[in-house]
Amino acid sequence: MKIITCIAPVNIATIKYWGKRDTELILPLNDSISVTLSTDQMHSKTTVAIDPDFKSDRMWLNGKEQSVDNPRFAQCLKEIRRRVQDKHGDIADWKFHICSENNFPTAAGLASSAAGYACLVYALAKVSGISEVRDVSLVARRGSGSACRSVWGGFVRWQAGVRPDGADSLAEQLYPAEHWPPVRVLVLVVSDSKKKIGSTSGMQESVKTSKLLAHRVERVLPDRIANMIEAIGRKDFATFADLTMQDSNQFHAVCLDTYPPIVYMNEVSHAIVDFVHKYNQLANQVKVAYTFDAGPNACLFVLEPDVADVIAHLRHLFPPTEHSAANYVRGIPVVQHVQLHKDIQPLGTPYEKGQLKYIIHTKVGDGPRVLTDDNEHLLTPDGLPK
Ligand code: DP6
Repeated sequence: MKIITCIAPVNIATIKYWGKRDTELILPLNDSISVTLSTDQMHSKTTVAIDPDFKSDRMWLNGKEQSVDNPRFAQCLKEIRRRVQDKHGDIADWKFHICSENNFPTAAGLASSAAGYACLVYALAKVSGISEVRDVSLVARRGSGSACRSVWGGFVRWQAGVRPDGADSLAEQLYPAEHWPPVRVLVLVVSDSKKKIGSTSGMQESVKTSKLLAHRVERVLPDRIANMIEAIGRKDFATFADLTMQDSNQFHAVCLDTYPPIVYMNEVSHAIVDFVHKYNQLANQVKVAYTFDAGPNACLFVLEPDVADVIAHLRHLFPPTEHSAANYVRGIPVVQHVQLHKDIQPLGTPYEKGQLKYIIHTKVGDGPRVLTDDNEHLLTPDGLPK
């Protein structure tokens, strides 16, 4: 039996992917840009075992056995096997046993499919002797579009590509995580009870009905993508922040322009947007940026020297409940003691306790990696979950 365990990161798009030109192959209408988050705070973990004696492919997710007939999952296995056949034909018939888990709540809606599929495909590739990151990105894309970006660390661009077969639609690294060390990320987990429309069907509806999406792809994104790459290159936080916020807002405007409209942000999300603009105005400088995916949670970008101050103001405006106070900020510890702005009035009056459930403080990180400690395996030597 061959066995391997890997972890893979979450990524957050600063230029959003929204809309496919080919649903089957998961080919996007536009290039997108993302920031890979450190696996220290959030990651997916996957163990893959292959053995000539395994009778069939099997998969367990967060402890529960899943059907291997899920078309996207099946597609990833098929694409890996096709590459194995070309390179290491001897193991091409062996079956896979796969066990995965996330170290963050899937229900929190935190891009778990991107980390999950990136991890699955990376682990399948490693156990099968496929080493090209290019291949991992191309295959991960078949699981979930945004997963193709999670195979790289740092700052990443997914090239939409032009070929009908999708062979040029994959992610490349723009800059490694070390390029811009002070960038910090605050994931704000907002309470939410509403069942949201998933990204796959949401973007399909937008492609069918939103004229704003066509305008965005043709007229707005070419310049915005070039400007974003330049801003990251010269570590120009204000420009990076403005473009990130504008693109998040345009993505949600496209959702509202979809007919019937799709609403992902809630009242607390909009209160966070309001806070960020007022905070920047008080500072007379763009110090914080927000971005929102297909849900109400916010992701804020802040430079390290400002993190403690931003968190203190968030805590003031969105106070925790007595129950959640001790665990309100998770991840990288924040030590500095800060005073609230003396003219705090413009930020508005504090919201009811518990509107913000908690904050994960993290930073830009590296791509997937293999864990070398055998104790990390999620499968026993018999190939069953521990
Ligand atoms: C709003 O990658 O989840 O997070 O390709 O259909 O699986 P599928 O969609 P998915 O879409 C992500 C959309 C987004 C923006 C982004 O991450 O770029």
